[in-house]
Amino acid sequence: MTRGRFITFEGGEGTGKSTQARLLASYLAQSGFDVVQTREPGGSPSAEDIRALLVTGAADRWSPIAETLLFYAARVEHWRQVIEPAIARGAHVVCDRFADSTMAYQAYAGGLDRRLVEDLHRLTMTGVEPDLTLVLDIDVEKGLLRAAARRDDETRFERKGRSFHDKLRQGFLDIAGRAPARCVVIDADQPIERVHAAVLAAVKSHLSVG
Ligand code: TMP
Repeated sequence: MTRGRFITFEGGEGTGKSTQARLLASYLAQSGFDVVQTREPGGSPSAEDIRALLVTGAADRWSPIAETLLFYAARVEHWRQVIEPAIARGAHVVCDRFADSTMAYQAYAGGLDRRLVEDLHRLTMTGVEPDLTLVLDIDVEKGLLRAAARRDDETRFERKGRSFHDKLRQGFLDIAGRAPARCVVIDADQPIERVHAAVLAAVKSHLSVG
């Protein structure tokens, strides 16, 4: 059985990742592929429990290291219960955020040592990497305005200060620049259909999928 592909969406707040992940998953399903759409933090029952601890409450509720360990506890369960079995049976997995988010939020923006996050990833996840990562990029101010227009209570990271979000954006761009074979940066300040077209172009050219 050929293994499926693992495609992740990354980016700061209000980039439209979730919409684009949904559009890509629908496109692949309509093209006849077995597709699993999922998200982090969360994606499996135990990881969704951990998500609630992470995305609500005071912005300084967790220290960077405690937060990182919680993200990885959720990730290990999500990988073991959902992502790996799906890929093994040949399904393509479309995931809204993965390990690059920990590197960008907890290390680049949160101040944790990048080496520590790399080591943790290697030790807990045997270094798995997505086949393709779509990094959606938008001006910080515009992204935060878009995120604020969403009416939900998952605002813990949105409420971190402007300099956190500036470092976050630069972090994602740096991560993408260091892994050009895996990452494609997409301008998210465009109509949804234009962003979707750019996503499909990247998926087709990188993965011979679709
Ligand atoms: P979401 O809004 O994309 O669902 O993600 C929830 C929040 O969690 C978002 O503000 C980004 C943050 N996050 C991290 O800080 N580190 C991580 O590893 C992940 C997966 C998400």
